[in-house]
Amino acid sequence: MLRVAPHCGETNTMTRRRFLSATGTVACLASTGRAGTSAALSTDVRGANDRIGVGLIGCGGRGNSLMASLLKLQQTGTPVEIVAVCDVYRPRLDKAAKQYNAKSYMRHQDLLVDKRVDAVCIATPDHHHAPQLLDAAEAGKDAYCEKPLSHWSQFDLTKRAVQAVRKRERIVQVGTQCMSDSAWHQAAERVKAGDIGKPIHAECGYFRVGDWGERGMPIDDANARPGKDLLWDVFLGDRPKRPFDVSRFFRWRMYEDYSGGPVTDLYPHVLTPVVNVLGVGMPGVAVATGGKFRYQEREVPDTFNMILDYPEQLSIAVLGTQGNDYPPNEKRRDGLPTPVFRGWEGTVAIEGGELVILPNSGSKKSAKRVPIQHGSSQERYWTNFLECCRTRRRPWGHLELAYRVQTALQMAMLAFRNGRTARFDAANERIVL
Ligand SMILES: NC(=O)c1ccc[n+]([C@@H]2O[C@H](COP(=O)([O-])OP(=O)(O)OC[C@H]3O[C@@H](n4cnc5c(N)ncnc54)[C@H](O)[C@@H]3O)[C@@H](O)[C@H]2O)c1
Repeated sequence: MLRVAPHCGETNTMTRRRFLSATGTVACLASTGRAGTSAALSTDVRGANDRIGVGLIGCGGRGNSLMASLLKLQQTGTPVEIVAVCDVYRPRLDKAAKQYNAKSYMRHQDLLVDKRVDAVCIATPDHHHAPQLLDAAEAGKDAYCEKPLSHWSQFDLTKRAVQAVRKRERIVQVGTQCMSDSAWHQAAERVKAGDIGKPIHAECGYFRVGDWGERGMPIDDANARPGKDLLWDVFLGDRPKRPFDVSRFFRWRMYEDYSGGPVTDLYPHVLTPVVNVLGVGMPGVAVATGGKFRYQEREVPDTFNMILDYPEQLSIAVLGTQGNDYPPNEKRRDGLPTPVFRGWEGTVAIEGGELVILPNSGSKKSAKRVPIQHGSSQERYWTNFLECCRTRRRPWGHLELAYRVQTALQMAMLAFRNGRTARFDAANERIVL
């Protein structure tokens, strides 16, 4: 591996690109039609044939699905290897270690000192993402970190993780795989080129029927108990110290201590492309409504509506429920209703495989239809992450973008729970209720 000298200090010798990245502007500027490219950022450049060793943290449903994508890439010649796995539950850990022929650890700190691990894949419950990302960055590892970037109550921890990643110049891709869809980079280009005039409003949503993501999570063993093969205290992490509960352990998405319901579980998928297309920074204000309107056997809401106002003088509305699944599939992209971006002079929407740019009445601009170059794929998203680990370029679902999205989602959740308007204090980088 070729190690090049790190860039000079973050503050006084910041380049324009790095300044833009710190202020969150680069996502828009770096976007190109083909799902984005950007200049090399940092250290640890690797050759195209250097193998990247991946350590999986969290061997549950998502972790195994991501490893299946990695194995597919490996079979088609990508130099990547699953070298280590970690889980607090021994049966899942042993199964994964055997399946991937990987070294096993029950604590992520032990996996992080394994020198064969170049990058980690964090697929644990939400409340572990920020602390594990922070530890990974400090251990000098790159990271593919599942969405959401953190639990809704962990703003300070999220900020610390982001600071650690910046300081150690790590490559981080957050698990919003829809960012491998060129639509969101092409739409960003059109908005940046002025096709709709100054953006003023966007709406997006997430609608599906069912609580299978929460109450439907599998309970592998109803008689499981804490001990050397199930580390309950490690599972709890910084959460309230509650007695063991088999449902909390296996079906953690039902509980507020570990999850936020649709706002943090599902909305990263719809808000991330919107924030990327509009190129906005942190929201100024968030309000939210919702509740348990259909599924009562859970703590987290099933219906959640949020509105964000930005200092850039635009609003984003995100609506959704788990009690209805209109529109039908043919009107969706990646299984999700498509967003609408409105500007002073026109609108960008998606119809079938095209971006449609429609002028406002009275505008001198003309209508356009732009074919979308390609859709999203989990393998393409991982390929982008691995390439960025080699080249030190900014990946499509990069951390600065995810930080802005996560802050908006956390503000909405705090607004909802407190029945207040949440505001972002940009000068002190904190959420105020
Ligand atoms: N991007 C997507 O489309 C997508 C889809 C599904 C899930 N996810 C995300 O992936 C994450 C995992 O979801 P899941 O459905 O796989 O959950 P899961 O419960 O099936 O898997 C989580 C695993 O983490 C283990 N674990 C818990 N605490 C740990 C710790 N401190 N260290 C190591 N292992 C620990 C658990 O034992 C479990 O095996 C969630 O944050 C979720 O939001 C993303």
